[in-house]
Amino acid sequence: MRLDRFISNLPQFNRQAARRLLASGQLRVDGAVVSDGLCEVSQFSRIELNSELLQAGKTARYFMLHKPPGVVSATAHDEHRTVLDLLDEPDKAELHLAGRLDLNTSGLLLITNDGQWSRRLTEPSSRLGKVYRVETEQPITPEYIEVFAGGLYFAYEDLTTLPAELLILSSHSALLTLHEGRYHQVKRMFGHFQNKVIGLHRLSMGAIELDPQLAPGQYRALSAAEIARC
Ligand code: URA
Repeated sequence: MRLDRFISNLPQFNRQAARRLLASGQLRVDGAVVSDGLCEVSQFSRIELNSELLQAGKTARYFMLHKPPGVVSATAHDEHRTVLDLLDEPDKAELHLAGRLDLNTSGLLLITNDGQWSRRLTEPSSRLGKVYRVETEQPITPEYIEVFAGGLYFAYEDLTTLPAELLILSSHSALLTLHEGRYHQVKRMFGHFQNKVIGLHRLSMGAIELDPQLAPGQYRALSAAEIARC
């Protein structure tokens, strides 16, 4: 939100008062004097009027979790344990998932309270590459490479999938890089060949790779470098 809107939304000020305060140079955002009302602030900004604290600014939190199969990618569920149940953190209600994995899929899941960051990561226009290791019931043939690179028509959504890169590792396993996240996309792509996916594991999202030190069910905070990479 813009700083002028933030100020004028406070019960003690109106738009005129907000303009005056901004011009007076009495407002600080994260310690720096700001007089431009267009300056963007968020729930993480510390906003002060002289020595009065208008907003303390929440701490932005970012985690990577090694999601095990059988745990649901949701913040609440009637039947299954959720990925949030695996986190030993305060104020879990503030957290949300930056992307999801199916119940039986394992691997990298990102969890945060920073909506702007997760939107950047997950919005379709980001074309973020997500790498999956896929195990299948039937052999994977070289023909798949071309078909996945050309895109597959999904009648239900009436769309053609973006080019995806397939690297065959062995007769029944491959690495697949997707640049979007359609419903059950990997399973449906292999389904085109009547080949059932029997194991699916996400290794990375963009430049963030699942930490190999994390056992299924474990998580850790992202480093500043990892946060900045997305
Ligand atoms: N594609 C799938 O089919 N399942 C997932 O969990 C992720 C991608």
